[in-house]
Amino acid sequence: MTLITDKIQQLETPIDVMFLMHKVFLTQSEKASELAKNAIETNDLKEFKSVLDNWLKLLLYHYQTEDEFMTGPLKEKEYHDGRLGLRDNVAEHDEIRSKGDIVLNDYQKTLNPKNMTVQEILEMDDLEHLKVMDKISAVQNSIVDAFGAEKLKARSLRGLYQSVLELKVVEFDHFENEEAFVLTLVREQMTYEQQLQLTEKLLFDSTDQNENWIVDFLFSVLDDDESRLLEELISEIKG
Ligand SMILES: [Fe+2]
Ligand SMILES: [Fe+2]
Repeated sequence: MTLITDKIQQLETPIDVMFLMHKVFLTQSEKASELAKNAIETNDLKEFKSVLDNWLKLLLYHYQTEDEFMTGPLKEKEYHDGRLGLRDNVAEHDEIRSKGDIVLNDYQKTLNPKNMTVQEILEMDDLEHLKVMDKISAVQNSIVDAFGAEKLKARSLRGLYQSVLELKVVEFDHFENEEAFVLTLVREQMTYEQQLQLTEKLLFDSTDQNENWIVDFLFSVLDDDESRLLEELISEIKG
């Protein structure tokens, strides 16, 4: 598994571009969780939102492309622990998409904590739930008043931080599984040329006005040596 602190020295085969990409995605998730954590103190989510949007945009494009052009064409293989590499990969993508939705939803709650439903408020903290339920009737206004706007805001920020952490954990596990199980199948089943084509899809978004938005972002995060590896791969793809 590639860690943020790992330095990627070489790409042995085109699909190894995944190590560079996963590393960059992890730096985004790290940044988003740092900013969400800071916001509990500062109340400031401006930078968080732009990092989050970027992170989710990258992930959503990446997973959709993998489902269609990577796991799609591969043949399934059952591992001895019963794991089905491709099926599990697609399921993990779905899980991360839904965790991403939860983060966005929680972000919305922090903008307007007073609009939270009773259910949402109680779900944020089970113990508080027990304490207040016998004192106030569970209607929107009274529960919002009982908590107070500031407490509610703080609570929503903690909830947001929590869901960012959860997204980060499933993302991390997913990258680890994909690198271990799916990339092995790619190397076994795809020719070098097919890997180059897949890599092109992963790196360039032909549906966007700026098809370079992904590589631009990768270059903005990778160090010089890693950027050179990416440049070499791109010139091979474009060559
Ligand atoms: Fe991936
Ligand atoms: Fe993936």
